Amino acid sequence: MEPSSVQGVIVVTGAAGGLGSCIAAEIASSPQLAATYRGIYAVRNPSQTTALSYALDQGRQRTTPHPHEIVSLDLEQFDSVRALATDLNQRVATGNIPRIRALVLSAGYLELENQRWLGNGLDATWTVNYLSQWLLTLLLLQSMDRENGRIVVLGSHTHEGELQQRLDRDPLLNNVAILGVDPGWMATAISRRHPMYSVVSVVMPWVASFLSWMQPSGMYRTPGRSAKDVVAAMFDIGWINGASPKGMYFKGAVRAEVSGEAQDVEKRRMVWKGSVKYAGLQHDDTLLLHWK
Ligand SMILES: NC(=O)c1ccc[n+]([C@@H]2O[C@H](COP(=O)([O-])OP(=O)(O)OC[C@H]3O[C@@H](n4cnc5c(N)ncnc54)[C@H](OP(=O)(O)O)[C@@H]3O)[C@@H](O)[C@H]2O)c1
Repeated sequence: MEPSSVQGVIVVTGAAGGLGSCIAAEIASSPQLAATYRGIYAVRNPSQTTALSYALDQGRQRTTPHPHEIVSLDLEQFDSVRALATDLNQRVATGNIPRIRALVLSAGYLELENQRWLGNGLDATWTVNYLSQWLLTLLLLQSMDRENGRIVVLGSHTHEGELQQRLDRDPLLNNVAILGVDPGWMATAISRRHPMYSVVSVVMPWVASFLSWMQPSGMYRTPGRSAKDVVAAMFDIGWINGASPKGMYFKGAVRAEVSGEAQDVEKRRMVWKGSVKYAGLQHDDTLLLHWK
């Protein structure tokens, strides 16, 4: 049974990554957030969570306990996505855990020279960065907090608003908000496939720290800085008049416009239809009324 202080769940994908572990650190080190939310930190390889475990342990030493668990999620496998969603949906439905207050899509995969195809014929980068996290989101909608649910998508100005449009027209899910956050250029292991990574990984953290200090809203950021922006988006921290934002896109903490292509209604619908097809979404999979 949950401690009585726990009122919601936070799910973070890519939680063992550079940004993901800083998001966990932000939450675990805030007495209020740590106590109020159960963290479900999804990682590709549960045996490699050094940064995440350190972030959570540091938080535990400094503040109130943060109920949390580290769960397995391989975004290259739809079965793994479905297994996690089924488990969480069952636990929410039976009252074992509260509803999901925030779903943060922070997993990412970057190829620089080679293109990799999965066994099902789909491109690995598209599947990990977009399709599997889209599927996870659609599957988990039934467990979202219907008043204050937030879905935070890490990405760039290509963030598109098709799901928000469909949520807005949904009788049960119209209060769920999706926010896109561009975390800027961070010196994390996402560039591990760079041919010069051994040099880049030593030099760039210093360069990025210095540049982000010189120009806090510039394109270079530290993962710690971007984690604060993500947590602000999750909990509407700092919004003017406490207004609840919906379907917005931010460069860090600054509101911005998505690209023209991402605003193109026809292209958005085309991507949506392709997503339904390639992820194999079925009627019973999602609570979303306009899912097709
Ligand atoms: N770093 C930047 O400059 C930058 C810029 C713009 C946007 N972003 C976005 O910010 C987010 C966080 O990136 P980051 O910089 O923190 O990179 P990171 O340190 O590489 O973290 C990404 C995480 O995604 C996980 N991941 C990769 N493939 C996966 C899979 N098949 N299944 C499950 N998890 C998988 C990785 O797990 P493994 O380590 O186990 O592979 C890693 O923990 C990503 O969405 C990224 O696209 C980053």
